[in-house]
Amino acid sequence: MTHNIAVIGGDGIGPEVITEAIKVVRAAGVEISTTDYDLGGARYMRDGEVLSEETLDELRTFDCILLGAVGSPDVPPGVIERGLLLKMRFDMNLYVNVRPFIGTAPGATEPHDFVVIRENTEGPYVGEGGSLREGTPHEVATQGSFNTRMGVERCIRYAFELAMTRERKHLTLVHKTNVLQFSGSLWERTFNEVAEEYPQVETAYNHVDAATIYFVQDPQRYDVIVTDNLFGDILTDLGGAVSGGIGLASSANLNPDRTGPSMFEPVHGSAPDIVGTGKADPRAAILSAAMMLDFLGESEAADRVRAACVDPVTGSTSDVGDSIAVRVRN
Ligand code: IPM
Ligand code: MN
Repeated sequence: MTHNIAVIGGDGIGPEVITEAIKVVRAAGVEISTTDYDLGGARYMRDGEVLSEETLDELRTFDCILLGAVGSPDVPPGVIERGLLLKMRFDMNLYVNVRPFIGTAPGATEPHDFVVIRENTEGPYVGEGGSLREGTPHEVATQGSFNTRMGVERCIRYAFELAMTRERKHLTLVHKTNVLQFSGSLWERTFNEVAEEYPQVETAYNHVDAATIYFVQDPQRYDVIVTDNLFGDILTDLGGAVSGGIGLASSANLNPDRTGPSMFEPVHGSAPDIVGTGKADPRAAILSAAMMLDFLGESEAADRVRAACVDPVTGSTSDVGDSIAVRVRN
């Protein structure tokens, strides 16, 4: 079966790493048909399009979307991030962001293997708020955090289901219930209620500030973590930093209900400072493509791709892609 993939290389090193990811998927023997979408900062600078409704409707027809990185120093911060990336996450109902981390943290004695399930459509990301008297000494700015029972519950359920598939069957809720009394209470109550349906899953709770210490000093304690959108954003950069670097951090923006495509992207950004130098590590993009293969039901190929990324590889972006492609074929 041929899988139809929409490819958004995007800006900076995005197109470079995505080329390698596609090379490796093909080397794994998976049949894909790709359609390129020219979107991102460069496209916006050329004709003003960030993501039109027509393009969004087209993207909805694919099996999956593979994205490199978007954002460019020429464009005011947030235009592309909100208009393209967040718009896709929200409008396509990509409500869980799955970010796996395997490695040995600098401050730890043993390796870790954990996954962060980040709620991906609510929290402070919804853009609720406004400002008054901007630019004056009396300026006021509010930025709300939006949490619905439905949104929190579907994310937590996904995390319990994932924990059930893993050996340790351990799930930690990360929040800040000691200060964020309203959203924290909703998350905590929902978590505890859903937990009753999964007696086989052992649960824990950490405040997010404490979690940053555990990420560095004792990440082996974690198996699956579930958390709010902004906490998940911050924690997963730290997760990358303690797991071999952001060059390895992969992610999946999933619509688990499969009412539309899911989107797969490396966690790193467009890194305009190294574009064209061949220094970009394509492994985060390749590992994101492996997550895509899992979601497409090609788990055997996905496992082969992941295995091929374990041993060290040296060379330029395309050398690394070539070496991994050779390993995947053998
Ligand atoms: C990420 C990124 C995005 C986010 C930005 C680019 C909007 O940092 O995927 O983690 O904050 O979610
Ligand atoms: Mn981030």
